[in-house]
Amino acid sequence: MRALTCLVALSVGYLVSGTNGQIAEQRDPLPLQRPLGGLHEEQDSEFQYLTQQTRPFQVDGKKIPDVDFDVGESYAGLMPISSDPHESRKLFFWFFPTSDTLGKDEITIWLNGGPGCSSFEGLLQENGPFLWQPGTFKPVKNPWSWTNLTNMIWVEQPVGTGFSQGTPSATSEKDVAAQFLGFFKQFLDTFKMSNKKIYITGESYAGYYVPYIADAMFNARNTKYYDVQSTLIYDPVIADDTLHTQVPAVAFLDYWAPLFGLDSSFMADIHFRANRCGYTSYLKDFLVFPPLGTLPFPPDPRTPGCDVFGDIFTAATVANPCFNIYNIATMCPLLWDVLGFPGSLAYLPPGAKIYFNRKDVKQAIHAPLSVQWAECTDNPVFNPADTSPPSSVSVLPSVIERSKRTIISQGMLDMRIITNGTLLAIQNMTWHGMMGFQSEPKDGFFVPYHPRGPLGTMAGAGIMGVTHTERNLTWVTVQLAGHMYGLLSSQTSCSFNARTRNRVQTN
Ligand SMILES: *[C@@H]1O[C@H](CO)[C@@H](O)[C@H](O)[C@H]1NC(C)=O
Ligand SMILES: *[C@@H]1O[C@H](CO)[C@@H](O)[C@H](O)[C@H]1NC(C)=O
Ligand SMILES: *[C@@H]1O[C@H](CO)[C@@H](O)[C@H](O)[C@H]1NC(C)=O
Ligand SMILES: *[C@@H]1O[C@H](CO)[C@@H](O)[C@H](O)[C@H]1NC(C)=O
Repeated sequence: MRALTCLVALSVGYLVSGTNGQIAEQRDPLPLQRPLGGLHEEQDSEFQYLTQQTRPFQVDGKKIPDVDFDVGESYAGLMPISSDPHESRKLFFWFFPTSDTLGKDEITIWLNGGPGCSSFEGLLQENGPFLWQPGTFKPVKNPWSWTNLTNMIWVEQPVGTGFSQGTPSATSEKDVAAQFLGFFKQFLDTFKMSNKKIYITGESYAGYYVPYIADAMFNARNTKYYDVQSTLIYDPVIADDTLHTQVPAVAFLDYWAPLFGLDSSFMADIHFRANRCGYTSYLKDFLVFPPLGTLPFPPDPRTPGCDVFGDIFTAATVANPCFNIYNIATMCPLLWDVLGFPGSLAYLPPGAKIYFNRKDVKQAIHAPLSVQWAECTDNPVFNPADTSPPSSVSVLPSVIERSKRTIISQGMLDMRIITNGTLLAIQNMTWHGMMGFQSEPKDGFFVPYHPRGPLGTMAGAGIMGVTHTERNLTWVTVQLAGHMYGLLSSQTSCSFNARTRNRVQTN
């Protein structure tokens, strides 16, 4: 079942403090400012990063297929993961410089998950400068693009993902991080971008990638290339899958019961089994503030009758054939999607084409024409599997301790990575000398009100969820978001991003 193996990453960047506040994107947009020279001697007058070395990557912002506006300066292409001239492994990236003055000193990395899902899902459908979301007629400008705040790079990784080149050989997150750091150094050298502040963001399986890459960057002790400030992960896989799915499943079903619309005999049976299998008491006993102590192994879902998560998914799909595990508020019809993956099911109506598989699109961004691009590849990107422990029981606590800020966020409508499971994983982590959150998250997460804007890019505002910060870890839930935040509200996403870099004025 693809839905269960392929975690599409959705993005949005909240990175910060739990206080209600006005966010940076409300400032008047600054005019594009050019560096005064010196730094980029060979630089072309119109562009911040155009040099002889970067010219092969230059994308003509006025000629992106089907996009009828100028997306501005950007660069895309394949970059080797080492300086070896014979290096066969290359990651594909798309880099958009920001025109924001503060953001010029930074680079924010966005990573989708999977494993094996392309970060161009985030770019095109969540946080990029132009959006082409499922069901929509054509691309639109994203007023909430993260590029308004910061230099942004979307990277297809690890090797085996998207347009990236080379034979997948990673067996662990250490291998993934080594590939990424190698790539990133080549990128920074090519674009003469060393000494930037680094922010690492992503969603879903990037709950592995982001903390492990941050850990490797901290360990490298080289701030010229790897000066990590903060990380942000949405609906992240940070724990054993049973914790993310089975343990919180029936409480989640109860919470959203009218939306599931399942009959009373199913409801009675699933409660009986959740009780018998031990999920009910596990959630009740351990989801407490402060935490009770170390989380034991959760009940084994392979015990007969104990795959309650799978049974809810199956029943939901009968009642609502378009049931979308990534956003349970989705109803029929299935929407066409230029990336071919609008929900739990891959779907491309006859006559439609996958955007990044079009020859004109590939040519526009210097992508290899021979690659059959897929949002999430069917071929393994780990060989044979990812042997690393989840981040909450390995590198994440120390990444929190070494970062200025860490944001973990959850869309409440996501059933693939369920909010209560992620919260349980947080309650089982010890950072800055204490375990878990000492008090229950309950402050409102405020997204500034704003003019409605064009109908194609409307975004929610007000108290959108709950936020809580302790010891530099911020938790945020968004009530009406699914796994992929941007699909709900790129503005909320943008708000996250502003918070990541502490550009939130408290009022
Ligand atoms: C983002 O930048 C674009 C281009 O400069 C601008 O039109 C838009 O209003 C900005 N968005 C916000 C929220 O400030
Ligand atoms: C999370 O768990 C708590 C405690 O069991 C429960 O009251 C709440 O409804 C759950 N929330 C969701 C969204 O499942
Ligand atoms: C809780 O944390 C401990 C210590 O890191 C770890 O050994 C254990 O596996 C964790 N429990 C769960 C269910 O993740
Ligand atoms: C949180 O980070 C700041 C620096 O950003 C640091 O000064 C502070 O001591 C940290 N808080 C804790 C509890 O470690």
